[in-house]
Amino acid sequence: MAKIAVLGHGVVGSGTVEVLNKSKQSLEKKAGQELEVKYILDLRDFPDSPYKEKFVKDFDIILNDSEIKIVVEVIGGLHPAYDYVKAALLAGKSVVTSNKELVAAKGAELLKTAREKNVNFFFEASVGGGIPIIRPLYQCLSADKIMGIAGILNGTTNYILTKMIRDGMPFDEALSTAQKLGYAERDPSADIEGTDACRKICILASLAFGDHVYPDSVHTEGITSVTPEDVEYCENFGGSIKLIGWAQRLDNGKVAIMVCPAFISEESQLAGVNDVFNAILVRGDTTGDVVFYGKGAGKLPTASAVVADVVIAAKLDSFSNTLYWEDSGDQEFIEKYDNIVCAHYIRVSGVDRAQVEKVFGKVRYLARANAPEDERAFITPPVSEKECAEKTAQLSEGGRVLGNIRVLDY
Ligand code: HSE
Repeated sequence: MAKIAVLGHGVVGSGTVEVLNKSKQSLEKKAGQELEVKYILDLRDFPDSPYKEKFVKDFDIILNDSEIKIVVEVIGGLHPAYDYVKAALLAGKSVVTSNKELVAAKGAELLKTAREKNVNFFFEASVGGGIPIIRPLYQCLSADKIMGIAGILNGTTNYILTKMIRDGMPFDEALSTAQKLGYAERDPSADIEGTDACRKICILASLAFGDHVYPDSVHTEGITSVTPEDVEYCENFGGSIKLIGWAQRLDNGKVAIMVCPAFISEESQLAGVNDVFNAILVRGDTTGDVVFYGKGAGKLPTASAVVADVVIAAKLDSFSNTLYWEDSGDQEFIEKYDNIVCAHYIRVSGVDRAQVEKVFGKVRYLARANAPEDERAFITPPVSEKECAEKTAQLSEGGRVLGNIRVLDY
């Protein structure tokens, strides 16, 4: 019998208890033992809940109960989640979490603690909601050297972009619908400013490259500056604008990593990923490209990934060595932002073609209906971020730069 404590009874927490209850029989068969939720920790009262006798407000009750084998942390945020998770691991309990902020900030440390205590720290639900991606990366793709990862990692922003592009829905309305559907973070600026996607690419990159990538090391842009004009030019380009978290192994041995809105060709497997769906493309040196696709947010998809981790944690008697990365102590393996090279889409006004080509060389021009006479939109050749900033500054001397979005080849 594995007794479980669930910390947090919000969207994911209540979904987790619901799935554990609904699928109890089949889950127990898979786990090879009974699974019982003994406690639910939440500071709020739930007098009408069918589980009301399980609620506690004091974490120490859980920590000091030697019957609790697995702690599920679905509170979110760093504190008190980190303190509870660390204490649970140190007390010899396995931990399952959906908390990407926690894993992105403290993953290496918590994995080390889990290894020292010979228990497990699992976080399948932290990236891609219900999409299996963590376990495939360290198990199914373990024969591959991971060359790159690119993902639509945030359901809220993908939902907003889809509504804006397909239905012409205003940004604010699309965001508030995503909030009502339970996709968005408590503070939705983490979604729209790219922070949530940043945490997720940090987790994937840490796992793929074996060294902890901290969110502060990743240049991150959200979708707030994407305009309807950019969307129109992207259609003419032959693709879609997506918020992409990406990490790429470079020839110099370093890793380029970034979160940014990007023009993605319609031929890319990521281009047709819409609404709340996420997709993660993994480029292996042996298998080539594989894409993982599914619902990236929401109560039950995320709960599904949490519960699957609970089943595996219940079955294991010792630390699972393959899910591991370390913190080498510096972030020198990450390529400097200024040196990262890719093509850019640029939109300018008050600049003629001769000036554009004098600065950028040969470019590909894009068109849209009813564009002002003095507007130019074009795709640059591959340039470093430093060069691109210098060149756009040159264009700004005689005109105005109205848009600058990277063009990614995934
Ligand atoms: N706010 C997140 C998203 C939830 O929209 O993808 C899932 O991590």
